[in-house]
Amino acid sequence: MKIGIDEMRFVTTPFYLDMVDLANARGEDPNKYLIGIGQDKQAVVPPTQDIVTLGAEAASKLPSEKLKRVRTIILATESGIDNSKASAMYVKHLLKMDDNIRVVELKEACYSATAGLQFAKGLVALEPQNYVLVIAADIARYGLRTPGEVTQGAGAVAMLVSANPHVMTIEPGAVSYSRDLMDFWRPLYATEALVDGKYSTNVYVDFFKHTYGSYIQQTGLQLDDFSALIFHLPFTKMGKKALESLLGERDDAVAQHLREQLKAEQADSRMVGNLYTGSLYLGLMSLVQHGQLQSGDRIGLFSYGSGAEGEFYTGIMQPGFAKHVEKIDEWLKQRTRVDMQKYETMFNQHLGMNDQDVSFDLQHDSSRFLLAGQRNHQRQYVDRNDDKY
Ligand code: HMG
Repeated sequence: MKIGIDEMRFVTTPFYLDMVDLANARGEDPNKYLIGIGQDKQAVVPPTQDIVTLGAEAASKLPSEKLKRVRTIILATESGIDNSKASAMYVKHLLKMDDNIRVVELKEACYSATAGLQFAKGLVALEPQNYVLVIAADIARYGLRTPGEVTQGAGAVAMLVSANPHVMTIEPGAVSYSRDLMDFWRPLYATEALVDGKYSTNVYVDFFKHTYGSYIQQTGLQLDDFSALIFHLPFTKMGKKALESLLGERDDAVAQHLREQLKAEQADSRMVGNLYTGSLYLGLMSLVQHGQLQSGDRIGLFSYGSGAEGEFYTGIMQPGFAKHVEKIDEWLKQRTRVDMQKYETMFNQHLGMNDQDVSFDLQHDSSRFLLAGQRNHQRQYVDRNDDKY
């Protein structure tokens, strides 16, 4: 049975920071950020947004008749809002979905959405009439004036997994690789990640070479069997580092094509920043929109989560795939640019570890789903489309 991704939708916050403004404020050459890191813009997160609002907003754009056939929601994140209750429960409530649904949250840094897709594939194999909703939602926070600041970002990708999918079938034979390493982590008492930056980039490349190499050995496929190789993009230069570790000096037609396809994957990520677990899947959406793909093409996907886990797997693009992947370039242009002062204010306003009651001003955020504040230690969400709003 063919199983894979049937629909894809994306959301980020309504605000962004220009990386030239960040570079100027931090005393760096703008080209370090634009070329050296490969980022143009970064999503800025108002206090009224979290993984629940982002995840619900992305999922709300999926076709409603398909959402009615969802029997499991998997929310993959490393930006959890509760140590016990799954954020998928809030999303299900905001979307007014049926109560006869299984909900769960998954975590392994930026890798967990890929685990979610693989688990969803197993569930669909057992019950092919049902859909699984996999949401990858995260807010990447490193802190003001840290080396990681330029690699922040936020957003959510919502994907439906089904039998006979419209976007991409997931082929068997994925290679997973995990080792207990401290390249990036976030202790329970911290709202910003701790990271050994250079080490993390080296581990990432090592894990890519290991999983890709094992996959090739196992399947006998060659580089020219892939129409594209796409990567988890914590910042877009990272994908280039990984691809170049494979291509080396190679500059034939196959290598040139893969480099062009990588640029297509990077296009939207340059505008948003790191989505953590959603980054690879924003990359897939960007490739569909900007790259050269045809039905029947095989693509290779490298998923990486710090801590650390890597997985290389492959998918086959399905007839009419582009119609089932949201085109996001136009609305990305409609976001509001904020200056450094506004960015820093928003950064510091987030709910974080606050244990007091709080109400946020909702006027400045045009999103449908909003975090209105906290009362009696419970997050308060609103839906602008609700009559009660
Ligand atoms: P840094 O020390 O600020 O930057 O940290 P740098 O000095 O290494 O410079 C970056 C690049 O800019 C270099 O290029 C410079 O040469 C270049 P490279 O050698 O890397 O190719 N450069 C310039 N280029 C053009 N014009 C100039 C110029 N100046 C310098 N004028 C670092 C960079 C990425 C380490 C930092 O931002 C960081 O720690 N980020 C967070 C960690 C991260 O993203 N790691 C990625 C791998 S781990 C991962 O992907 C998992 C993750 O998503 C989390 C999860 O799994 O949950 C992070």
